[in-house]
Amino acid sequence: MQLLIILSILLSLCDTENLTVLLVGSRYKLTEQRVMERRKQILADCEILKLSCSVFDALNDFSTESYPQGMWTIVPAIMKLPFISDWIIIAEDTSEINISNLPKFFESEPSSDMVFSGFALQDRDPTIIHHFGMNAPENFQYPLFSAGFILSKSVVEIIRKVDINDRWSGFAIDAKYEFAQFLHKWENLRLHHHPDYFCCGDTIDSCIVKCSIPFPKTSNSISDSEVHVMVKTFEGHHVNRLEVLKNTWASDVSRIEYCSDKEDPAIPTINLGVDNTDRGHCAKTWEIFRRFLGSSGNGAKWLVVADDDTLMNFKRLKQMLELYDSGDKIIIGERYGYGFSLNGDSGYDYPTGGSGMIFTRSAVESLLAQCPSCIANTDPDDMTIGICALTAGIPIVHESRLHQARPLDYAPEYIKYPISFHKFTDIDPISVYYEYLVELEEYNHKSEL
Ligand SMILES: *[C@@H]1O[C@H](CO)[C@@H](O)[C@H](O)[C@H]1NC(C)=O
Ligand SMILES: *[C@@H]1O[C@H](CO)[C@@H](O)[C@H](O)[C@H]1NC(C)=O
Repeated sequence: MQLLIILSILLSLCDTENLTVLLVGSRYKLTEQRVMERRKQILADCEILKLSCSVFDALNDFSTESYPQGMWTIVPAIMKLPFISDWIIIAEDTSEINISNLPKFFESEPSSDMVFSGFALQDRDPTIIHHFGMNAPENFQYPLFSAGFILSKSVVEIIRKVDINDRWSGFAIDAKYEFAQFLHKWENLRLHHHPDYFCCGDTIDSCIVKCSIPFPKTSNSISDSEVHVMVKTFEGHHVNRLEVLKNTWASDVSRIEYCSDKEDPAIPTINLGVDNTDRGHCAKTWEIFRRFLGSSGNGAKWLVVADDDTLMNFKRLKQMLELYDSGDKIIIGERYGYGFSLNGDSGYDYPTGGSGMIFTRSAVESLLAQCPSCIANTDPDDMTIGICALTAGIPIVHESRLHQARPLDYAPEYIKYPISFHKFTDIDPISVYYEYLVELEEYNHKSEL
């Protein structure tokens, strides 16, 4: 008799708990495909567990007549959910998810409690990408999105109480940090570090979500001639910065043009015919687009635009590009955003310039057709690209391995197989390159030469 009562309580517990999984990627077919695969697997696992589950693709599922903006900053996507489940897991489209481990987690955390658990990151130093930690408490922690995090119903209900017509963000730079900051500000809620369930690093059996980096199935299928690199520079940086690039990643690139305001055959640099400006560089970047389509990009499928203080691992960049279809009209970058509202009606994505911006040929053509020139020469090039891409219908595809700042500006656990970093301020770029962007065997190979 007692056993029956316990059994029926257990069963009713299982019956009532339900789950939403919200996967965040890009507005692109690769994300759609990954979410479809994850959905199939998650729903099958949920059926075995007798859990009622739904899976949403934050970037591709909420479109009506047009795509809403800013869904990757999470709060606007939570506003779009058609219903509130007892639990919501938020992860990236590439994350590995194993729902079988969820019941164990439920045992410890009732959904009536305010639960915000994930894999916690913490800044080593005050960093520009987090406004130097102003407006955040000491030792502030935020979730590694690729390792997933979970919210209980009560937290989601609080988020949904915010006025949907409110402005949500000015600049959206690091969504995981800004989301945690929002919960802290609104409800004084702090992230609970739960690395046994939300995992990155050691392989643990209990993981519900595991961070994962997509690698191409075939490798070395992109030849050097398919990728054309154009570096924005000016005469004042010819000696110091270009010297660094030539001694590091640029030595691996067969097609590279140093686009300057002065020709110097010794480097060599080319004169784009655009005067240098202190900021923005819109005119320079637009001239790069014209030059690429004009003839310098002949035969190349991809255009990479980098700063003269961008460091890269070119081999990893090409490996990453193998995942994408060069025939698609896409821009790949580290995605930032501007001016999002909670209802998704305003704002735009842009590929932040310093980490490197990558375009397919058709994306460059479409950008120039939409925006033949910059409104002002000193407009920020990356944000102008974002505005023009939005009107031209070119998605900005997010690649988290590109970085707008220096390695020490990121939590160590976030840096996994990085492709790029940016800015030489207060660092030795050569040692940063060797420490973060060269793999050991590549390094040995180089020193043998
Ligand atoms: C989830 O379960 C709750 C009860 O805990 C119920 O009120 C709600 O309708 C369920 N939602 C879905 C989407 O099944
Ligand atoms: C999911 O986790 C369970 C329990 O730890 C394990 O038995 C199962 O093999 C895992 N499934 C996958 C696909 O890894």
